[in-house]
Amino acid sequence: MEFFEITGGSSLRGEVSLHGAKNSVLPILAAAVLVNGECILHNCPNLSDVSRTLDILNKLGCTVTAEENTVTVNSSNISSYCIDECEMREMRSSILFLGSLIGRLKNACVYLPGGCEIGTRPIDMHIKALKELGAEIEEKGSCLCCKARRITGKKIILPYASVGATENIMLCTAVSQGTTTIINPAREPEICDLASFLNKCGARIRGAGESEIVIEGVEGLHSCEHTIIPDRILASTYMSACAATAGDIIIADIVPSHLAPVFPYFNEMGCHIYLDKNLMRITAPKRLKRVKKINTLPYPGFPTDSQSPLAAALSVAKGTSVIKETVFENRFRYVGQLNRFGADIEVNDRIAVINGVKKLNAANVEATDLRGGAALVIAALAAEGVSTVDKINYIDRGYEAFENGLGRLGANIKRISNGKENEEEKSAKYYRACCSEQISAHT
Ligand code: UD1
Repeated sequence: MEFFEITGGSSLRGEVSLHGAKNSVLPILAAAVLVNGECILHNCPNLSDVSRTLDILNKLGCTVTAEENTVTVNSSNISSYCIDECEMREMRSSILFLGSLIGRLKNACVYLPGGCEIGTRPIDMHIKALKELGAEIEEKGSCLCCKARRITGKKIILPYASVGATENIMLCTAVSQGTTTIINPAREPEICDLASFLNKCGARIRGAGESEIVIEGVEGLHSCEHTIIPDRILASTYMSACAATAGDIIIADIVPSHLAPVFPYFNEMGCHIYLDKNLMRITAPKRLKRVKKINTLPYPGFPTDSQSPLAAALSVAKGTSVIKETVFENRFRYVGQLNRFGADIEVNDRIAVINGVKKLNAANVEATDLRGGAALVIAALAAEGVSTVDKINYIDRGYEAFENGLGRLGANIKRISNGKENEEEKSAKYYRACCSEQISAHT
């Protein structure tokens, strides 16, 4: 079991750069299944969710190599369209293989996905859209057996701008017959990155980032080389850490337009943001001001993934801030742990009322999910004294060696292993062992 030991109470200062975006690399790795050739992907972050995705690609028969932050996937000899239940359960993004396997092999046998427990996270929109495009999907318990004689372009109207559903439709129709139009797609920068990767492989996709995406199906996709965009959620996490500690930091490799939805809130808190091309300097006041109201929304709204890190900063602001979480219904699970630092946050359904306190005290806490875990690290950085944050396996899903990035900003944070496994690690290991027993019993 690993945990972070953090000695807080000092301001962050220094320069840090961003790794590639988790929410770009995962769909792009799923998209590599569509390509009859080699995809060379640069700026791939070294995250546990990426390793799990590479394992899935390997088991499908793709050749995968990773060297530093460059991953090469060759799907020319893909030989399977089945993904084990345990692999599907480990992360939500595994569901993106549904679209890409149908697109490439016209067959897929997958299970309902897992991931952080931040809401019920259904996949009804994915299934409905894929059925409309010609896939036959039979649900047997948690297993989804899919086949399609052909995928034919159609107009698909999404009732909600779901990131995953938009990606699955793009993956399923990039190689297809006819033209597909997605009305009300997600507009996140990661959707644009997926479209840009697919277009480099020969797909014909336009309108990504806008209110309609048009995909003219092509016969096949070819090899390409692509660089994953920088992680805007990591940038906003560093910004929150800076704000919470009255810091003054420089973040390199940012794309300013990707961060436009968060800038106004940091300004409202009294932070100053200076931009120079892909560099940002953010300076925070001694005491932050409250933010009147934040609603998390699909892009270009305030990102739900930036909500918990910002809440940690607002817990030491002067006055009362209100956050309404509109995207995931269960995204305040970290609040109980944050309050152990002396924060004063009340949650009522989807609304958190944050009564800013003057200072936080050190505490021993555990992460409840990926972004909530980052919030606890930020609170520990702001709190005087030595804190510990346990269950950092959640944090490792989305932050590459978080302690190194924060260390570059002067944070006193250590990763410590006590040689024991926590309950999550034990149950994941047990589950994997059961799965491999089942697999070997069937082979
Ligand atoms: C992706 C991101 C996640 C981010 C989220 C919103 C990845 C790997 N993950 O998740 O980090 O927090 O976008 O920006 O890119 N919904 C349904 N039915 C569906 C699909 C979604 O009801 O078929 C609901 C979800 O339960 C949720 C909301 O729609 O309440 C948003 O989900 P979605 O945009 O699909 O997020 P993900 O793709 O899961």
